Amino acid sequence: MNVLLTGGTGYIGSHTAVALIEAGHEVVLLDNLGGSQSEAVRRVERVTGRTVPLHVGDCADPATVDRVLGERAFDAVVHCAGLKAVGESTEQPLRYYRNNLDAVLALCEAMGAHGVRRLVFSSSATVYGDPETVPITEDMPLSVTNPYGATKLFAERILADLAAADPAWHVISLRYFNPIGAHPSGLIGEDPDGEPNNLFPYITQVAAGRRAKLRVFGADYPTPDGTGVRDYLHVVDLAQGHVAAIEHLADEPGHRVYNLGTGEGTSVLQSIRAFEAASGRPVPYEVVDRRPGDVATCYADPSAAQRDLGWKATRSVAEACVDAWRWQSANPHGLGSG
Ligand code: WQD
Repeated sequence: MNVLLTGGTGYIGSHTAVALIEAGHEVVLLDNLGGSQSEAVRRVERVTGRTVPLHVGDCADPATVDRVLGERAFDAVVHCAGLKAVGESTEQPLRYYRNNLDAVLALCEAMGAHGVRRLVFSSSATVYGDPETVPITEDMPLSVTNPYGATKLFAERILADLAAADPAWHVISLRYFNPIGAHPSGLIGEDPDGEPNNLFPYITQVAAGRRAKLRVFGADYPTPDGTGVRDYLHVVDLAQGHVAAIEHLADEPGHRVYNLGTGEGTSVLQSIRAFEAASGRPVPYEVVDRRPGDVATCYADPSAAQRDLGWKATRSVAEACVDAWRWQSANPHGLGSG
C-alpha cells in the first residue's frame, strides 16, 4: 500500500516507517520537525535500504496536507504527528488543542477530498484516566486528566463521528501503552529534547552519566513494591501494530479502537533493575513525592488486537533495555551526534 505517515521522523513514527517498509509498503513522510530531526529519515533509509520521501510541513495546515495528498494516490494514512507531553499540555492547553485537533480535522478533510478514507490514528492509554480495574479493555470508561489526553479522546470522537456519517471511512485508533526501547540496529531510538518526561529515556540518560540520578515519583502506591506500575511495550512491537492495523483496515469498516500493550505490568524499581542488568551500569535514584496526575497501576488487556489484527507483543522489557542501551551508546547525544 501507498502510505502517508505523519510524524514519521519522531520516535514512534520512525520505527513505524521502518516496520511499514519492511512489510513491503511504500511510505512517504510528512513532519514539521517540531520534535525531531531530518537525520531520522537518513537513519530509516540506512535501516531499510530504501529511499524515503519526506515532506517538511505542518499536517494541521490544510494547504499542506492537500498538496501532499495530491502528489500520489495514497491508499491510507498513519497519523502519528502531535504534541505529546502531558505536563506541557497542562501549561499550554490552547497550543495542544489547536495543534493536535487541527491536524486531525485538516487531515481528514483533505483525505476525504482526495478519496483516501483509510486511517490509522495514534491514540493513547491516557484516555482511560485512572482505571478502576486492570487489565484495561477497550470498553472500559474513558476519562482524561490533562489536555494532551483530552486531544486524544476528542480526536477519537471526531473519527468515530466521521466513520458513522460515511461508511466509506475505515479508521483504527491505536491506544498506545508505554513505548520503550529502540530498533536493534542502534540507528533509531528515543531522542527527547531537553529533560525527558518519561521514565525510560530518563533511566537511559542516568545510566549514560548524562544525568546524576533518577527521581522515583513516589514509593507509597498500592503496588507490590510501592512504585508505579505500567505496561512497557517495545517500540518495534508497537510499530508492527501499525502494520497489522493498516493491513486490516479493509475489513474493518467504521471506527475501531485497540489497546497496544504487552498485558503485563512492570514497576519503576523493576525497570531500574532491568536497565542496570542490560547496561551493566548503576542507575542511582532517590524516592521523592508522587508526580501529580500519576496513577498507581495501568496495563492493557491486548486480546482484542490479537483477535482482530493478529498482533501480539513479542519482545520483553529486558530486550527493550538492551536495545535502548545500544541506541544510547551509539548515539550519546541523540541524532544530533550525526
Ligand atoms: C511511568 C512511571 C512515573 C519519570 C506518559 C503519558 C502517556 C504516554 C506515555 C503519550 C510512572 C514514573 C517517571 C521519572 C518516575 N505518552 N516516573 N520518574 O506517565 O505512564 O505515561 O507517557 O502518549 O500519555 O501520560 O509514563 O514514563 O512518564 O511514567 O518515577 O523521572 O514512571 O511516576 O509511575 P506515564 P512515564
